[in-house]
Order: sequence, then C-alpha cells, then structure tokens
Amino acid sequence: MKSLLATGLNGLVGSRFAKDFENTYEFDSLDVRDEKQPTDITNYDQVLERFQNSDATHIIHLAAYTDVTGAWKQTDDENGITYKVNVTGTANVIKAAEVTNKHLIYVSTAYVFDGEKKELYTEEDAPNPIEWYGKTKFLAEELVKKAQCPWTILRIDQPFRSDTFEKVDTAHRIMQGIKDGSLYPQFTNHFFGPTFVDDFGKVIDFVIRTNTTGLFHASSGESWTDYDFAVAINEIHNLGGEIGKGDLEVYLANSERPYQRNTAMSNEKISKILDFEMMSVKEALEKVE
Ligand SMILES: NC(=O)c1ccc[n+]([C@@H]2O[C@H](COP(=O)([O-])OP(=O)(O)OC[C@H]3O[C@@H](n4cnc5c(N)ncnc54)[C@H](OP(=O)(O)O)[C@@H]3O)[C@@H](O)[C@H]2O)c1
Repeated sequence: MKSLLATGLNGLVGSRFAKDFENTYEFDSLDVRDEKQPTDITNYDQVLERFQNSDATHIIHLAAYTDVTGAWKQTDDENGITYKVNVTGTANVIKAAEVTNKHLIYVSTAYVFDGEKKELYTEEDAPNPIEWYGKTKFLAEELVKKAQCPWTILRIDQPFRSDTFEKVDTAHRIMQGIKDGSLYPQFTNHFFGPTFVDDFGKVIDFVIRTNTTGLFHASSGESWTDYDFAVAINEIHNLGGEIGKGDLEVYLANSERPYQRNTAMSNEKISKILDFEMMSVKEALEKVE
C-alpha cells in the first residue's frame, strides 16, 4: 500500500476518508491524540520529524480549528488557537513539505468568500473573508500558493457524510431536528453548496493518483437554501415533519457574528477532469443513514 501523510484524520471529513481508503493507503497520521507519537501541527520540529521519517509522496492536510463562533471570539488574536492551528500549523506543514519535497493537499473552505455574490463562486473570484475562521483559512491558502513544493487547494462547503459521526453534520442535524421536532425555521434566503464527504474522499484520492495541482472547488457544485435542503431530507427520508421558514436578514439584524449569505461554489473546473462522477445532492441525501 502507498504511504500517505495526513493531518486531521480524527475529524468529520478525515475520519470518513480514512475509513473509505483504509485498503488503499497506509496512513501516517499526524495526530495530537496519538498515544505513541502525539504530533501537534503548531510544533514545527514534531511535524518535520514525521515528514522526514515518512516515505509518503503526498500530505493531505485537513487539521484545523473549525469552530466558527469560537474563532470569531478570537478575532485578530494571532496568539489564539484559531490562528495558531490554521495559519501557523499550516505554515509548519508547508515548510516540512518543502524540505522533504512532498505534494501538499490543503483542504480549505468557501468561508474565504464574503458571501455577497448572487451566483456560484468560481476559483477566479477574489476571496474576502468576513470573519476570523475564514480569514485564517484564507491566510493559510495564501501561504500554500507560495509553497516551493507541488500543492493543491480543495475548497469545500458544509460537508455531510452518509454515516453518523460524533461531530454532527448539517444533514444529520436537520434529520434529527425533524425527528424530535426541535428544528428551527430554516432560512429561505441563505445559500450554500453542500459537500458529500463520501465523494470528497474520492476527489482527494483522485488528486493523489493524478498529481493534480492548483486551486479547485470540490463541493457539489449546487446551490441550496437551508429550507430546500431540509425539505429534501424530510421528503427523501419520509420523516413527515413540518419545516418552518426563516429569514436570514432577521437573524443577521440580531446577530453580532457575521454570516455569509451565499457560499455555494461552482465545481465545473474539477468536474471536467475527474475520472468519476460526483453524486447530486439528492442522490447523496438518499445515502444518508
Ligand atoms: N466542517 C465544515 O463545515 C468545513 C467546511 C469547509 C471546510 N472545512 C475544512 O475541512 C477540513 C476538515 O474539517 P472537519 O470538519 O473534518 O474538522 P474537525 O472535525 O473539526 O476536525 C479537525 C481535525 O483537526 C485536528 N487538529 C486540530 N488541532 C490540531 C493540532 N494542533 N495538531 C494536529 N491536529 C489538530 C483535530 O484533531 P483532534 O480531533 O485530535 O483534536 C481533528 O482531527 C478543515 O481544514 C476545515 O477547515 C470544514
């Protein structure tokens, strides 16, 4: 099996990828929780040692501080955990990849955009993050783009997977909310581009197999409102719930934390080169357990 260096394999996205590709890759996981060899990406020496001791040709870098509200409370704090993990941590991964000449695959987010565009975001659109999590992911992207090693950036949005996981994804949160009657009214004017994690893992594998480099949007390429997404889950799974309608503008008027109105992205650039077809969001929702 081919060795693959990885960060963030305990997370929502990474753990599914690791499970689906356990027979394809021998994972060399940089994991803070590892009892034998704990590796914190904010510690360059620890990262470099792991890279130097690995014969992997690629590193998939998923580790991040992903609590957007928690990050917002640290706005502009370069000593905060968000900046340290997302920017300093990524800088360490880049440096180690440069020194050992490995291909770096960095997973980023649609939150690098301000959300004001009315259409799907493309790779040509200029990022303009409006909150700290998005800003730190953007700063890290900028570092990756300057890396002196082969690099790929894959942006995703609101990932959901077919199985349940300890960190509850958008699809499972809505499904549970419909079942127990606790679902808030869903915005009819907030747009996002759901990413089916099971398919996204195949995109990562494709990038490794084909040594594809550059910046790509790897979400579904579709635009959904929260309301339509909830209605689809309700119908596809015959849940018989009542979905209320909410207004993002009312929410924003009462919320201090900025929230992007639209994060749906076009995936045309990557779809053209993939050697498999990604599922539509409706097909993916049918797979959700
Ligand atoms: N979830 C989303 O809505 C979303 C949307 C767009 C893009 N993304 C991006 O997709 C990637 C994966 O997201 P996710 O939702 O799977 O994240 P997640 O569930 O929050 O998992 C984050 C992972 O990062 C690891 N990590 C955190 N700090 C670390 C450190 N200092 N050193 C080493 N590892 C560390 C965590 O390890 P422990 O579990 O051991 O702490 C965990 O495995 C991230 O880069 C994120 O920015 C996520």
